[in-house]
Amino acid sequence: MSSSATVQRPPSVAGDERPALSAMAFVSDTVALSRVSADLFNMTLGKANVREGTIEAALAISEWPRDLDLLIVDIGNTSDPVADAAALKTTVPGTALVIGVGRINDVALYRDLLAVGFNDYLTMPFAEGVMGRAVERALEARERTGGTVMQHAGAKDAKPRTLSVIGARGGVGTTTAAVTVAAMLGSRLREDVLLIDFDLHYGSLMLALDLEAIDALREALDQPDRIDALFIQQVAQKKSEHLYAMGAEEPPTGGFQARPHAASDFLRSFHRRFRWIVADVPRGDPVIQRQVLEASSDILLITDLSLPGVRDAMRLQQMVHEVAPGAKLHIATSGAVDARRSAVKVADVERTLKRKVDCKIPADAAATLAAINFGKPLSEAAPNSGIVKALRPLVAGLDPLGGGGGGGAAGIAFKASGLLGRFGQSLKKK
Ligand SMILES: Nc1ncnc2c1ncn2[C@@H]1O[C@H](COP(=O)(O)OP(=O)(O)OP(=O)(O)O)[C@@H](O)[C@H]1O
Ligand SMILES: [Mg+2]
Repeated sequence: MSSSATVQRPPSVAGDERPALSAMAFVSDTVALSRVSADLFNMTLGKANVREGTIEAALAISEWPRDLDLLIVDIGNTSDPVADAAALKTTVPGTALVIGVGRINDVALYRDLLAVGFNDYLTMPFAEGVMGRAVERALEARERTGGTVMQHAGAKDAKPRTLSVIGARGGVGTTTAAVTVAAMLGSRLREDVLLIDFDLHYGSLMLALDLEAIDALREALDQPDRIDALFIQQVAQKKSEHLYAMGAEEPPTGGFQARPHAASDFLRSFHRRFRWIVADVPRGDPVIQRQVLEASSDILLITDLSLPGVRDAMRLQQMVHEVAPGAKLHIATSGAVDARRSAVKVADVERTLKRKVDCKIPADAAATLAAINFGKPLSEAAPNSGIVKALRPLVAGLDPLGGGGGGGAAGIAFKASGLLGRFGQSLKKK
């Protein structure tokens, strides 16, 4: 089923409607130079102006082509590459995308270059195709914003957000909801969203999207400081226009104990590229579960309408209050088990959790089947499904475009009673 390559190539620009780009490149390394030339060939219809040199040669140019779309520049080994980069940005036409290349593999430098207006930075050596993908992404970001601004521009003012999706029980539709919400969020914001399956052993997210699991995820969790822009580019697999995903398939025998704060360091690294991350949180790994929840700005807790489901929703709700008091908690009821055949009612859930349910996900077996068959998010495979409609207000509330209310409606007084009420009593005693 998982037949696609580990790192997916975007469609070639030559096959697109896009007109040929006007591009220049200054690269000192001959291997990198030939790779840049190869990658630019189609995009520029062979007219790229590729030269051997560095930013010094670029700074010496007094008049740039007015229609320049793309400049690739080797930052070389000057003493202050960021100052040079900033100076260069003031001279090239504002509409040109600028992508730096260099030998320094340093996150701080990467960030500084973005801050002065570079659209990306790649560390040499890089494989053929890597530059092509970087250009493609920068172009997509520019098309999205309709102008000169690159996708990282918002990073300074817009806070990174992590939405954790967690099921009160297994099989309640957590993965389905995580994928659907991430896809809907990306389309709504027209911004790249990264989905991460934190169940390194048994996660099903990559299978659901027909993408390849990667081995590097565990290593990256072990050593998050080694995650750089190139790594992110290689491991985050593109599924659709604004949806990227990553997940692992660790052997069942291989134990893994994440060191303290591993997940939050890991998420922070990926937030350099993706403002929004949606995490599919495993229930079976309390360490990872806690770490991911701690690092989340938003948590979507999904419960089925069963007694164990509601009991565990309540326990998880308490845990969220303890480990992630600042996070916004959204509650949904599952559609994986048909609510009509269930003994517990939504009102029982609300009474037990002492708050409103934000979203009632309906049962729609045909839509989930279509999503699985196509290996696509449900919102793309079955856009008219009731599941998509039910999730829409929740997605809109996560990141209101220019205001609008959130989804939470805590604080409603409910009287605990009956069997479900007893969960509350017994938990408080613990
Ligand atoms: N709203 C729904 N209506 C009908 N079927 C659903 C719905 N949501 C999920 N399903 C189906 O339920 C099954 C479990 O879904 P999914 O893998 O999303 O659950 P999960 O909670 O992530 O499971 P696990 O605990 O194994 O990770 C799948 O077959 C899926 O297609
Ligand atoms: Mg799952």
